[in-house]
Amino acid sequence: MTDIAVFVSGGGSNMQALLDTIEDGKIKGRVRLVLSSTDKAYALQRAHAAGIKTLVLPKELKERERVTLEALRENGISLCVLAGYLGIISPEVVREYENRIINIHPSLIPSFCGKGYYGHFVHEAVLEYGAKVSGCTTHFVAQGIDTGPIIMQRAVYVKQEDTPQTLADRILEQEHIILPESVRLFCEGAIEVNGRKVIIKERKE
Ligand code: GRF
Repeated sequence: MTDIAVFVSGGGSNMQALLDTIEDGKIKGRVRLVLSSTDKAYALQRAHAAGIKTLVLPKELKERERVTLEALRENGISLCVLAGYLGIISPEVVREYENRIINIHPSLIPSFCGKGYYGHFVHEAVLEYGAKVSGCTTHFVAQGIDTGPIIMQRAVYVKQEDTPQTLADRILEQEHIILPESVRLFCEGAIEVNGRKVIIKERKE
């Protein structure tokens, strides 16, 4: 059983998709802790409703790193999941949890990612550029923003009439599929990382 911590900043729909998949018995893991960059995240209400311990992280980066590491160690966390998390994960935490922090990003990395590309800014940039395909990506967190080895991706076609919100909504549906699936594969021990490459070892019965 993998003990999981989820990091949030907003509505928590990705976290909810993960909790629902765990509830359905499809993932050999359990969410022990939800850490938020803000006390205003609706994700915290979702965590409380699920009876999960929550922690609002300090704003100051060194203090945030200390509190984060202490909470992860105290709760025996083996996997961190960033689900709409907008804070910085310190290099120290990334080192300690190398290839054990999964992030979900609402574009096809390496496009439309990195500093300043989060939430609606991603979809605005996609439409502004005139891209025909966007999507979402799960990846392991490495040093830098949205730079780690890619686990899964799903493509979403851009429609002529799309607004940032309509595109975001269609991509979010796919995020709610690949994030729980990426966590499931991790908990099955079916993910192997070789440099930048992620190999999924699951046998298809
Ligand atoms: C959404 O923009 C999603 O694409 C990204 O984080 C934002 C909020 O997601 N991953 P959530 O509802 O808080 O999970």
